[in-house]
Amino acid sequence: MYLKQLQLEQFRNLTAAQFEPGRYLTILHGQNGQGKTNLLEAVYMLGSGRAFRTAKVPDLIQHGSKSAAVAGRIESAGVENRLLLLLDGNSRRISIDAKTVYRAAELHGKLAVVIFTPDDTAMIKLGPETRRRYLDRSLYAGNAGFLQDYHNYYRTLKQRNALLKSNQQQELTLWTEQLAAAGIRLMQHRSRYLTELQHLLQHQYAQLAGNNESVALQYKPDVAATTAAELLDTMQAHQEQDLRYKTTNRGPHRDDLLFLINERPLKGFGSQGQQRSFVLALKLAELDHLQQTFGEEPVLLLDDIASELDRQRISNLVTYLRQRQVQVVITTTDVTPFQELLHNDSRLYRVEGGNLTYEGNGIS
Ligand SMILES: Nc1ncnc2c1ncn2[C@@H]1O[C@H](COP(=O)(O)OP(=O)(O)O)[C@@H](O)[C@H]1O
Ligand SMILES: [Mg+2]
Repeated sequence: MYLKQLQLEQFRNLTAAQFEPGRYLTILHGQNGQGKTNLLEAVYMLGSGRAFRTAKVPDLIQHGSKSAAVAGRIESAGVENRLLLLLDGNSRRISIDAKTVYRAAELHGKLAVVIFTPDDTAMIKLGPETRRRYLDRSLYAGNAGFLQDYHNYYRTLKQRNALLKSNQQQELTLWTEQLAAAGIRLMQHRSRYLTELQHLLQHQYAQLAGNNESVALQYKPDVAATTAAELLDTMQAHQEQDLRYKTTNRGPHRDDLLFLINERPLKGFGSQGQQRSFVLALKLAELDHLQQTFGEEPVLLLDDIASELDRQRISNLVTYLRQRQVQVVITTTDVTPFQELLHNDSRLYRVEGGNLTYEGNGIS
């Protein structure tokens, strides 16, 4: 899967931008605040229908404009498609080859995208909600069916919480049963996905860090249940407490995941370098997982990677990705660390004030 061409209108500070990435390596360079990350965000959106930084459509539309457009030509399985995303007020419209589609899930398998940004490392230290969001988003990228189970659980949870608030106890039993049934499906998705990712992670970490430290990714469910009945037991046992606090205290909406290095929490025991390598390895494990799911390499976006990795690591990574024939887009304030990695078929763009200037393959 790869992006051939991208056209943006009024997307954040990119007023009218045309972007044609190379098949393998593309570098976007420019000072801070010029629109490099915005461009990556547009690519990510084209692939998934959603943004990675914010869920609010109005934030993506250029200040002072009413709408924005992200249009792209992509190729997957040897077939070319035209994807179009129109953002208007609060709404989002997607079309594939000029035909409107009504579910973002239809974008699945067209342009799978993995993004690594400096913000990702923060997920190690932030609360469980950030990690849950990461987990669900990453799971959804390779499994369109997950979304329905996800929404089903959270819709039911909202209903049950509303009942708790209004003190309508007679209906509660029914909703608790439905919540447990939906909850166990959500938990099974998460558990299965993390087991698959865990195997890929260890391999990627060893390759990145160049040592044999052990790393692990562990599902930490709020309720250790394997069946709907077990989950229901715990939920029912907390009904009194739920009524008192007017909210559902136990269930997968409180799940977490644990990052471990040498069997200890990465949060307290990992150095800065280990934490960065861990998160990048996690992203590469996602890349592997999507490759296995779709039978094709996804696109990899590396935001400000020079602030995260030293020159040798970047060089190893870029060489490895080229061997795999992954399309890579890198943003940086300084091209120097990437100069020796450019090939004839690489493409270099300068980003300044929301404008893109093509600068050839960057080989002088
Ligand atoms: N909706 C928007 N309309 C106009 N400008 C925006 C919008 N959202 C963000 N920006 C601007 O985009 C710039 C940041 O772009 P970004 O891609 O993060 O820069 P960088 O090149 O450092 O990655 C900021 O100047 C910010 O004000
Ligand atoms: Mg940026």
